[in-house]
Amino acid sequence: MATGVSLAPKRHSMACAKVVLAYSGGLDTSVAIPWLREEKGLDVVAVTVDVGQPVDLDRVRDKALRSGAVAALAADARQEFAEEFVLPALRANALYEGVYPLSTALARPLIGRHLVEVARRERASFVAHGCTGKGNDQVRFELSTTGLAPELGVIAPAREWTMTREEEIAYAARHGIEVEATRRSPYSTDENLWGRSIECGILEDPAVEPPEEVYLWTVSPGEAPPGPEYLTVGFEHGAPVSVDGRELSAVRLIDELNRRAGAHGVGRIDHLESRVVGIKSREVYECPAATVLLRAHQALEGLVLPRDVLSFKRHVEQRYAELIYDGLWFSPLRSALEAFVTETQQRITGEVAVKLYRGSATVAGRRSSQSLYQAGLATYSHGDQFRREMAEGFIYVWGLPSRTWAKVGETAAPEALAPAERAP
Ligand code: ARG
Repeated sequence: MATGVSLAPKRHSMACAKVVLAYSGGLDTSVAIPWLREEKGLDVVAVTVDVGQPVDLDRVRDKALRSGAVAALAADARQEFAEEFVLPALRANALYEGVYPLSTALARPLIGRHLVEVARRERASFVAHGCTGKGNDQVRFELSTTGLAPELGVIAPAREWTMTREEEIAYAARHGIEVEATRRSPYSTDENLWGRSIECGILEDPAVEPPEEVYLWTVSPGEAPPGPEYLTVGFEHGAPVSVDGRELSAVRLIDELNRRAGAHGVGRIDHLESRVVGIKSREVYECPAATVLLRAHQALEGLVLPRDVLSFKRHVEQRYAELIYDGLWFSPLRSALEAFVTETQQRITGEVAVKLYRGSATVAGRRSSQSLYQAGLATYSHGDQFRREMAEGFIYVWGLPSRTWAKVGETAAPEALAPAERAP
């Protein structure tokens, strides 16, 4: 999977143990390279995985080598991310705490899988990541890598070192690592195909409305076009395959919906979130494509799936979303729930029209050859085929337990029931 191998000459003649580092090119993971060398005596292999964040893979690889990595690898994993992680989550309508489409959370097991592959190929003893000790992502990286390769050790430099940001910058300077001269944003962000996460700064006060400046993918609904835009998403077996009749790869389809829905201010989410590590935190998300697709997918399921499957699936969906959030993608329970979800998607084929308008994405219509909606049964006009004379008997039997319950409570004398339950 990892492509574009670029090996720098080893600086140390004695063979060192190796660590495979998830490398973003930012300050923390750049400082981690010389730190792992100096504090742990390890050769660092840097791995950068493109999941749709704005990244120049050549530049990042170059920076890893200049920071002291013995090798730097990069993989364009957008298609893998979309097909193997995002689409299963969409089929499961996965929303953590009912609102967060899990964009950041979904990318972690994929990155973990890449780290493990490289570690095995390079015969590394450790993997490493740049997460601190307070977030969810440390949990996700470590459960993914150890879930796939229990023999690998994990190192989290930013959780171990006690450097402040200023000290990190000084450390970087001492090791010849350039620190981007751009004005430092007060926000911490993470971005991929499925969404953008923003936290810190003023957002740490959950009473304060997120300022406009935190948003990059979505316009303010107030600034959105004055008229609505309609789009039609085509689904096959629960996966989106076309927009307005044009067949698109998952990556291109999600890209297009991010742009089109974002231009109407769709997909802003303000989440007071319950982290795995017990902390409540406030995170803002921009997920235009996810918002449109989840809504459209749910609408199509509503047309095609029977009531009991829909309601049982809602429980599965919630648990599935929690497993993703909690870092348990590579777990037997997630695989088992996935089998259930896949089975429910066999007939989820059809089209859904969505109206984008000033911050909202509303389902405007849905159609499927597998529709359970039968006009002859649903109509209140001519052609009604529903046998209403059957309703009375149905209600009699359906209500028997509640009537019995009520009567026993009333009289506390069960024998009083017998005559009343006799047919008239
Ligand atoms: N809270 C989100 C999650 O746990 C996103 C974490 C990363 N966010 C960030 N702004 N760096 O999945």
